[in-house]
Amino acid sequence: MKKIGILTGGGDAPGLNGIIESVCRCLLNQDYEVIGIQDGFEGIYSGSFIKISETIIRGIHSQAGTLLGTSNKSSTKGREEEFLRRYRALNLDGLVVAGGDGTFSALKAFSKEIPMIGVPKTIDNDLPGTEVTFGYDTACSVVSESVDALRATAEAHRRIIIVETMGRTSGWIALGGGLASFADVILIPEIPYDRKNLVRYVLEKKQAGHRGLMVVVSEGAVAQNESATIAFEVPGSPQAERYGGVAANLARWIEKEVDWEARHVVLGHLQRSRAPTTTDRFLTLSMGVLVAQMVQEKAWGQTVVYREGRVLRASLSELMAPARLVPPDHRWIHLARALKIYI
Ligand code: F6P
Repeated sequence: MKKIGILTGGGDAPGLNGIIESVCRCLLNQDYEVIGIQDGFEGIYSGSFIKISETIIRGIHSQAGTLLGTSNKSSTKGREEEFLRRYRALNLDGLVVAGGDGTFSALKAFSKEIPMIGVPKTIDNDLPGTEVTFGYDTACSVVSESVDALRATAEAHRRIIIVETMGRTSGWIALGGGLASFADVILIPEIPYDRKNLVRYVLEKKQAGHRGLMVVVSEGAVAQNESATIAFEVPGSPQAERYGGVAANLARWIEKEVDWEARHVVLGHLQRSRAPTTTDRFLTLSMGVLVAQMVQEKAWGQTVVYREGRVLRASLSELMAPARLVPPDHRWIHLARALKIYI
């Protein structure tokens, strides 16, 4: 009997359980033994795993989080030998890894030794090689529902409300969620904003009699010639910086500049902890079925990706390139400008 391991690494993303359920259901149907490695790389080091059975996984696709647990603070750097030794002790024929840039860059060193199949995962939607990652649609829904809801209190109190989204160095979540809720202002790291122009825009809205104003700001957004707001660092994490604080700073500053009361809301981990949308469920089940097929074909060193409306396979190395940022001339930027959204 062939024995396959499955591991989820990095920050959790809605849809991880859908990947686990679809991959494992298909493999169990083909008489594979599947073990779920717990807590990302931590489970390799500690040898913690669960034996996957149909009963454990049935129905988990609709839940947020990951049945296996995950970690975004353990690295393989400097521990390569130990990692490989521990992996070999599991006696696996192959490993399915759902992860983001941190996970795949950490696994680069083992691409020859470990037969692996990748599944791109991040709410940030910034993995190269794929046009969309699961979890992104759910995160955007959290943003758009929040902005829609907050608009009522903003208008009731004649306030500006600044909503901070996740995304690290990329603005996909702020852009997608901000557009879907027709926010007035969307600030993303890829397009550093000009403070003077922003003030001018907000004043115009005030003078035009708007009762409230909704601003969506990505946690990594920056004003021109300034740097991003880092809240703290997580030592040992493949990406140590944790962003945060930009919305609070912006609220205090804009309030003074335009004499319009401002508040801020940080959506934070709510963006990761919601049941996946139907779109994300479809993506994960299509990816999961293909991954199981690839395991049977021993298509090691490959990954599933989403391109031009289809789930396809590609070389795993494609996920190991630098982050995929929002191109400043992306069609969604043009949509925002057509709606006179400040971006
Ligand atoms: O990469 C996913 C992500 O959710 C980022 O958008 C965010 O900056 C970061 O993880 C938060 O990490 P943590 O879970 O360590 O707070």
